[in-house]
Amino acid sequence: MKFTFILFILGVHNSSGELECGNFVPVSVTGNKQNLTSVYYPFDYPRPLSCSWILTSRNPNSRLNFQIISFNLTRSPFCSADYFKIKDGPSIISPTIFNWCGQKPPGTRFRTIGNKALIFFSTLDTGKPASGFYMQFWAENKEVIIERDPVFTTVHYILAGVFAVFVGFFVVSLAYLTLLSRLNLHKKNKVSHSPS
Ligand SMILES: *[C@@H]1O[C@H](CO)[C@@H](O)[C@H](O)[C@H]1NC(C)=O
Ligand SMILES: *[C@@H]1O[C@H](CO)[C@@H](O)[C@H](O)[C@H]1NC(C)=O
Repeated sequence: MKFTFILFILGVHNSSGELECGNFVPVSVTGNKQNLTSVYYPFDYPRPLSCSWILTSRNPNSRLNFQIISFNLTRSPFCSADYFKIKDGPSIISPTIFNWCGQKPPGTRFRTIGNKALIFFSTLDTGKPASGFYMQFWAENKEVIIERDPVFTTVHYILAGVFAVFVGFFVVSLAYLTLLSRLNLHKKNKVSHSPS
């Protein structure tokens, strides 16, 4: 699937009369916090608007973190009017990790699986004025997370369990074989002692 992304320049109107904005945003590999705000923030955002940003960290082994600090978008059923959306990857078919309007988002911390994210901010030509959003984002090395991840210790427990089962099986087999050879020896001794 081909996703054509245009480098939007603020002030350019598309064919449907929407003001377009957005950019390709390099995410600092040092983990510095960067911010992303709606147009004119903290003043009310313009209408209609169609913005998209592609955030990329140069380190392929990193993931992106998002912290929403302020959120105020005009509410509509299913956010069919104004919305703010974060995709877990660089394409429109990437899974959506955040899609919201209104004032109280269900969460304010999000992170991607990979080193890229696509962000949409869209407003309709009519609706109540709202101040928009202010969000911070930063890149984080994935290895740092894996070391702290409790799943890592669970894996160790499982491996230790499997190892213990093997050792147990080995000990039991050894005991069984020893017993068997003793019995055979006993039998042989008995046989040799019997008169022929
Ligand atoms: C954005 O980031 C800069 C530098 O980190 C900071 O000074 C500024 O207050 C931030 N917030 C907004 C809304 O621009
Ligand atoms: C949202 O923005 C509108 C317009 O600026 C303002 O009147 C309202 O108080 C804001 N609401 C919140 C919760 O910030």
